[in-house]
Amino acid sequence: MIRINKHYQKLKASYLFSDIAGRVKAYQEAHPDQELIKLGIGDVTLPLCPACIRAFEEGVREMGQEESFRGYGPEQGYLFLQKAIAAGDYASRGVSIDPEEIFISDGAKCDTGNFQELFSQDITVAVPDPVYTVYVDTNVMAGRTGEWKNGVYENLIYLSSGSQTAFLPPLPRQRADLIYLCFPNNPTGAVAGRDELTKWVAYAQENRSLILFDGCYESYITDDALPHSIFEIPGAKEVAVELRSFSKTAGFTGTRCAFTVVPRECRAFNEAGGEVKLHPLWNRRQSTKFNGVSYPVQRAAEAIYTPEGQKQVREQVAYYLANAALIRSALTDLGLETFGGVHSPYIWVNVKRDSWEFFDELLARAQVVCTPGSGFGPGGAGYIRISAFNSRANVEKALSRLSALRLAP
Ligand code: MLT
Repeated sequence: MIRINKHYQKLKASYLFSDIAGRVKAYQEAHPDQELIKLGIGDVTLPLCPACIRAFEEGVREMGQEESFRGYGPEQGYLFLQKAIAAGDYASRGVSIDPEEIFISDGAKCDTGNFQELFSQDITVAVPDPVYTVYVDTNVMAGRTGEWKNGVYENLIYLSSGSQTAFLPPLPRQRADLIYLCFPNNPTGAVAGRDELTKWVAYAQENRSLILFDGCYESYITDDALPHSIFEIPGAKEVAVELRSFSKTAGFTGTRCAFTVVPRECRAFNEAGGEVKLHPLWNRRQSTKFNGVSYPVQRAAEAIYTPEGQKQVREQVAYYLANAALIRSALTDLGLETFGGVHSPYIWVNVKRDSWEFFDELLARAQVVCTPGSGFGPGGAGYIRISAFNSRANVEKALSRLSALRLAP
């Protein structure tokens, strides 16, 4: 008899963004004449920049000629892109990363979800709360949690933060073996300074833990004094893996390209407490289950690191950050308390009401789609997240619709 993975039955009915898409679709079908403005899922709207497009097209042309055609590429990614990342993202900030410590992939969401399979089922897992739901759901699927009860999964450590602590998750009170951190944070937009990250690295060293550091929104950091990578912290290479993505940096949500840095020093432990390096394990996993990202896409990603590409992608990030500033100030003027939106494309808004109820009201009265905070865990109750990924015209239109409503509690 074919039997299912019983842990899938613990999952809440659907993935947060599928849930929202379902509600939006139903609303659209019932109101076909109304124009919706989507500030919900963090999906980019600006086209790929000219430098990427040129490299992409050239890559496609090479694939169409016998002399330059390529079949399977390395599962770890092409060295030209690994080198560009090591120089452009790490050496440029004084961090030495060997290109072969960088694994190119088709998305940070996939890598975040996949990486946990290197670890034993009985480890303890800590997630920030509010939390990007992929960290939670993938551990539920893997059987590391108990049942869903009273809005949380049993046997999962929620590191609850709030506005009093600038949405910085506290250190776990009980020992956590695997810790997920995300800075700049999705969904709150919180950023961590050097001292904050140093505290986490020390925790991981003392407790023999591993940090999965999600740095997908790194390009939104506007203060050069803030660390852009956890590897800027001494000792982090032994205890952290870093995930990055070109999705929000360069508009690759539909093109798909990301990377995970697994330093050679990075370790976990076997049953006897002996050290096991993660680099060869992840390499083994990727070469067995993944066949790499397409050649033209990797060429397009490499172009991000040229001077022209850097200028163009920075302009895109600045465009979304200017949207974020507009949203922040308009909502503050409306009397709402806002967080994030400075080093992040997300604005986290305290609506002091049930967040799904607020979502429904915004949809019905302003035809604006946001993300209800409670979808990001119990710590998101009473909040919504607004994404700055849209055209300036749509953001302005959405804000003028909101100002016509009495939103403040
Ligand atoms: C979000 O809206 O939180 C992101 O788009 C999710 C993702 O990048 O997977």
